[in-house]
Amino acid sequence: MSLGIVLVMVVLTGVTGSPSVTRRPETETTAHPNSVPETVEEPETFGQQDVLVDEEAEEDVMATGELNPNHYPAQRAAKVVQHYLNTRHGSPYRLFGLHSVLRGNAEDVADSGRKYQLEISVQEIIGNTTEKCSAEVLFPRGERQGAPQVQASCGDLLKNDTKAQEEALHNQYKTNQTLLSAQNLPDSYGHIDPDMKPFWHLGQVASSFVMLRESTENTLFNMAQVANITQLATENDQLKFDCHILLHEMVSQEIIHWKLLFTWSPAGGVTVLQMEQLPHRCEKPPNTNN
Ligand SMILES: *[C@@H]1O[C@H](CO)[C@@H](O)[C@H](O)[C@H]1NC(C)=O
Ligand SMILES: *[C@@H]1O[C@H](CO)[C@@H](O)[C@H](O)[C@H]1NC(C)=O
Ligand SMILES: *[C@@H]1O[C@H](CO)[C@@H](O)[C@H](O)[C@H]1NC(C)=O
Ligand SMILES: *[C@@H]1O[C@H](CO)[C@@H](O)[C@H](O)[C@H]1NC(C)=O
Repeated sequence: MSLGIVLVMVVLTGVTGSPSVTRRPETETTAHPNSVPETVEEPETFGQQDVLVDEEAEEDVMATGELNPNHYPAQRAAKVVQHYLNTRHGSPYRLFGLHSVLRGNAEDVADSGRKYQLEISVQEIIGNTTEKCSAEVLFPRGERQGAPQVQASCGDLLKNDTKAQEEALHNQYKTNQTLLSAQNLPDSYGHIDPDMKPFWHLGQVASSFVMLRESTENTLFNMAQVANITQLATENDQLKFDCHILLHEMVSQEIIHWKLLFTWSPAGGVTVLQMEQLPHRCEKPPNTNN
């Protein structure tokens, strides 16, 4: 399959007001069992493990009309909604996962691409609440190729008030003399230090910005690991992080490395300032816990 190439060759046109993106034309084509925890059996990954993908659905002809909710086309489009919701509402204490697809429909839209209309169930993973969403995902085609466009109308996704927790975390890391630095969230045993969980969540939210813009009808991205995250000093109210993430593209089975620069504050949410796809380096396994 040549998805790795497709992914890298995505033409960055028609994208405005976005963080700067740099890519290098090299991705690793096999999953490295040593580098990515395959068995993160935490409730937090529930939303990701719920996807039962049918191999038969993996074909070049795009399904049109009413879709099987459990097949790739509907699941892939629904996953884009998850990333969209994370970019809009995600925080260290609020993280959305796709719980299930209830209904899906796809149609070609003349000149502009393909439109999916979805009824999905979305899980807020940290508070463990579930809401239904009606969503529309347009995958642009041709000259207008770019990130999918999403509209979603959901039940009360913000039901669980996380403001106090966010303020406390913000204060803690704003006032600490030592800047945060952490590696391997989670480690190769699927473990995350409780103090570092908010940063694993934050890394996932930031990753959703990448996964949202990189998604096509032929991809299904999951977050695999925050390889490392480093807090940078700021003059303003934002917390700023440099972060190296590993994404797992389920269709091609590629592990893709990205470097992100992002900010977070309780009032402003997550803003990704820079994203850069990195070539995979094999010589050093990431899971050397020092
Ligand atoms: C989440 O909530 C559902 C239903 O409300 C429950 O069945 C499930 O056990 C909960 N999961 C966790 C990890 O608490
Ligand atoms: C809100 O989320 C916290 C975890 O962050 C959880 O302990 C709590 O039960 C949730 N509250 C509600 C009302 O869902
Ligand atoms: C400040 O940072 C250091 C090093 O990361 C950590 O050990 C300490 O617990 C932090 N202090 C507070 C109040 O969070
Ligand atoms: C972060 O992790 C990546 C991948 O393991 C590694 O290449 C990079 O050197 C690390 N950076 C820092 C600052 O630790």
